[in-house]
Amino acid sequence: MAGVSRTPLIAGNWKMNLDHLQAIAFVQKLAWTLKDSGHRYQDTEVAIFPPFTDLRSVQTLISADKYEIAFGGQDLSAHDSGAYTGEVSGAFLAALECGYVLIGHSERRQYHGETDEVVAAKVQAALRHGLMPVICVGETAEDREQHGPSAVPVGQLRTALQGVPADADIVVAYEPVWAIGSGQAATPEQAQQVAAALRQLLGEVLSAEAAERTRVLYGGSVKASNIAGFLREPDVDGALVGGASLDLKEFSSIVRFQKHVGV
Ligand code: PGA
Repeated sequence: MAGVSRTPLIAGNWKMNLDHLQAIAFVQKLAWTLKDSGHRYQDTEVAIFPPFTDLRSVQTLISADKYEIAFGGQDLSAHDSGAYTGEVSGAFLAALECGYVLIGHSERRQYHGETDEVVAAKVQAALRHGLMPVICVGETAEDREQHGPSAVPVGQLRTALQGVPADADIVVAYEPVWAIGSGQAATPEQAQQVAAALRQLLGEVLSAEAAERTRVLYGGSVKASNIAGFLREPDVDGALVGGASLDLKEFSSIVRFQKHVGV
């Protein structure tokens, strides 16, 4: 299964779903469900990525009730402050006790024109503010046909890592674009192949220690019924879950992958 030295991370990307009131209800139920089922966060870490407008409510609830669920923003500005209408600074996310931030999700790349260079600048911004970047990479079906499975994600990560120190804490999420929201997940073998290539790059660009320590997640149509296969692979250390993260039963079952499938 996933590298023994790395704690698996199950991360829920809510995208543009659930307002702050719905978020409060959801997080409360999630925490209770995981508590009832005896979930140990030191065995599998759980993180959620709600919309920006939910973060203050989520922070207040999590800190008041001492839940161990981590949380973060779905994006951040490459800049720290200033005349950037509509953008959100990493400083503001850090002030809300966010531990993580998603960077370079394929929907940001596709609908907001985020280039690999923009992604790299955002990674730097996250690190400046003590946020752990979850760097999202992945190929389209066309990329895969033309260049094979690993070339595009590896190239994206290479640029994103520019200027990242070897001892930085980062997470990499491999999300093939053709698998996101399509119901057609990659196979565990496909995920492993690219995750291994990404880990090799971490070794080349950062250090052998960074490659060993850094978690590489798989994302794209992850469900309770297919999570176990991914986590059995040696280089897959967790999942970035979209649609299924909005379904309490499904998401808590994904978090509990070690129990219900006996991995
Ligand atoms: P999905 O989305 O699980 O709905 O395929 C994954 C993602 O976009 O992070």
